[in-house]
Amino acid sequence: MPEQIKFYYKNVTAEIIGAEHGITEEQFKILSEKTTPLIAQLNNERKAGKTPYRDLPYKKETASKVKAVANELRDKCENFVVLGIGGSALGNIALQTALNPYMYNLDDNQRKGPRLFVFDNVDPAQLNSFLKWAEDKLDKTVFNVISKSGRTAETASQFLIIRKMLLDKLGANALQRQVVATTDPEQGTLRKIADQANLRSLEVPDGVGGRFSVLSAVGLLSAAICGIDIDQLLAGAADMDERVTDTDFFKNPAAIIAAINYHYYNRGKRISVMMPYSYHLKDFADWYRQLWAESLGKTKDLQGNNVFVGPTPIKALGTTDQHSQVQLYREGPNDKIFTFLQVEDFKSPLPIGPAPDTAPELGYLSGSQMAKLINSEKLATEYAMLTDKRPCMTILFPQMNPYTVGQFIYLFEVITSFAGALFNINAYDQPAVELGKEATFALMGREGFEEMAKNIQPFTKLDDKYLI
Ligand code: PA5
Repeated sequence: MPEQIKFYYKNVTAEIIGAEHGITEEQFKILSEKTTPLIAQLNNERKAGKTPYRDLPYKKETASKVKAVANELRDKCENFVVLGIGGSALGNIALQTALNPYMYNLDDNQRKGPRLFVFDNVDPAQLNSFLKWAEDKLDKTVFNVISKSGRTAETASQFLIIRKMLLDKLGANALQRQVVATTDPEQGTLRKIADQANLRSLEVPDGVGGRFSVLSAVGLLSAAICGIDIDQLLAGAADMDERVTDTDFFKNPAAIIAAINYHYYNRGKRISVMMPYSYHLKDFADWYRQLWAESLGKTKDLQGNNVFVGPTPIKALGTTDQHSQVQLYREGPNDKIFTFLQVEDFKSPLPIGPAPDTAPELGYLSGSQMAKLINSEKLATEYAMLTDKRPCMTILFPQMNPYTVGQFIYLFEVITSFAGALFNINAYDQPAVELGKEATFALMGREGFEEMAKNIQPFTKLDDKYLI
């Protein structure tokens, strides 16, 4: 049987950190009683087609189409550039960091595909620097513009800059050759542009929100073209699907993780720290941050009552943040829960060289391995946290590969659905993001937003009294 990721949660129990901060058996029983009916509820909602992200691992046609586009482009393309933001970029970044070597872009020997750049901001200095570098490589550069709505100002502006550059430098056919649009199958500005300009295009499936879309064409194309085995990724997700539909609460990792988070939220631990002990997983902590914050931070519950709910997700990186955050995590307020991500087998454990005679105190390291050191530091940090009664959980990756990463993605997406159900909120919308998007339209002079522009004025004009 292929390897499965595992979830370890003894270190949240009262047995380990005491009854004040730990979860007792009785409390687990209560959590089980509350969550078990939600397992059936989510399974039913999924069957009724209400959560289409759940079916992404089985979309063979999408995978085939993505692979066909990737194969078609790979030889012509030395640089692959993703233009997108939020759910249209974070998964792409996370997959690349997780599954390709650290030096992928710089070392031709370590790359199985084109260099990958993901622009998920509108910082002119950043994009300008790239454009200067890419100017004489444009004919070998493919741009994947990703926007489900097609109206996001960041992505639209990037696209308009690139479009002009391609047309000016390479002529009228450049767009068909070098742009792939990933967007809604039928609606929106980007779909309109793609259809009219006859661009290569892929689809963001109906009903799949940005932050749940990494296993659709949104995340799969950049992964596939950069040599990541997307079939294994989807197979891993399907493997996790079986586990997270299990109606036995204690066998269902998504249900139990969501329930633990919910329990602690209601007991004042409203900050949830994800701390991978693997550089490769660091951008998945970023991806999780969006998934958790945008899905669970809500004013209203499903009945329309004001609840102002939402755990705050924080990302940290082991061991780096041991030297930055752990002082706070151990001695600051006991208002956080910790999810460590640990890789059991790093494949290249990296032996540590001998200590010089002048430094025998480093002898304990020599002959050991860096893989042992990073995992020892994880255990050491966890131990230190536990002495201060901080609840800790761990997701164990037997190895980093597309199969285990696919499991992880699917697991956290379904945990988010469970958490949404426990908090009794809609985990799939993001109404609060919209006002900022519309205010940007107003400030940028878009037609139809004149009234909003007037309302914004008092807040944007600097008041000298407060300017020092
Ligand atoms: O998760 C979400 O829905 C958001 O983060 C979106 O992905 C983000 O706002 C970008 O939207 P779009 O893909 O429509 O450009």
